Amino acid sequence: MNITVIGRGRVGGGLAKLWEEASHQVTTLGRDGGDASNAEVIVVAVPGHTIADALQKVTGLDGQLTIDATNLYMPRDETYPSLAHQVKSIIGGPTAKSFSTVFAAAYQQISAQRVTPSNFYAAEPAAQRVTEQLIRDAGFDPVYVGDIDPGARLLEDSSGLTRALAGQIGPFFYRYAVPGEL
Ligand SMILES: NC(=O)c1ccc[n+]([C@@H]2O[C@H](COP(=O)([O-])OP(=O)(O)OC[C@H]3O[C@@H](n4cnc5c(N)ncnc54)[C@H](OP(=O)(O)O)[C@@H]3O)[C@@H](O)[C@H]2O)c1
Repeated sequence: MNITVIGRGRVGGGLAKLWEEASHQVTTLGRDGGDASNAEVIVVAVPGHTIADALQKVTGLDGQLTIDATNLYMPRDETYPSLAHQVKSIIGGPTAKSFSTVFAAAYQQISAQRVTPSNFYAAEPAAQRVTEQLIRDAGFDPVYVGDIDPGARLLEDSSGLTRALAGQIGPFFYRYAVPGEL
């Protein structure tokens, strides 16, 4: 797939590397923006409070399937039910939320794990298949929490728990399973 990742930091740069290893074509854009008109999939990996600014500097955003990976560590603009909804209001395509509950610092250790780590995602129906594929291509096992309404906000609101746990044990993986699967 032809993927443009907006944000080339720990998450954006890290995902680009994982997806390139899985034979995707990935372009990363930093704070100066760029053009995304060739992209089939857009991934947003900038600080949550910079979404409007970051996307405004990118040309060619026109209804592409979008995965929002952002979190927010300051008061939110309640105009939107979630950051993923804010992203959708700008790009307009089928939208998903994922990679917001997993640690970029551990990306390079995914393949060395005894079991495949989980990665939660919320998605509109039209974004579900591609999002699942890209989660698998990054090395994770996708766990669907439902549509972005209310799934995206639920994932964003879990960031406090994630940070509290990381404060105790550092960057971690998690694995969700139905009985009998482990
Ligand atoms: N780090 C993690 O483990 C982790 C896990 C889950 C979710 N997240 C979320 O993912 C997002 C990215 O996190 P990160 O750790 O990758 O951050 P990061 O390493 O600091 O990278 C941030 C990226 O966003 C760009 N950026 C920063 N300010 C911007 C602005 N005002 N306008 C446009 N672009 C801007 C930067 O551009 P330049 O390259 O030009 O500086 C950089 O490429 C955040 O929302 C974070 O909460 C992070």
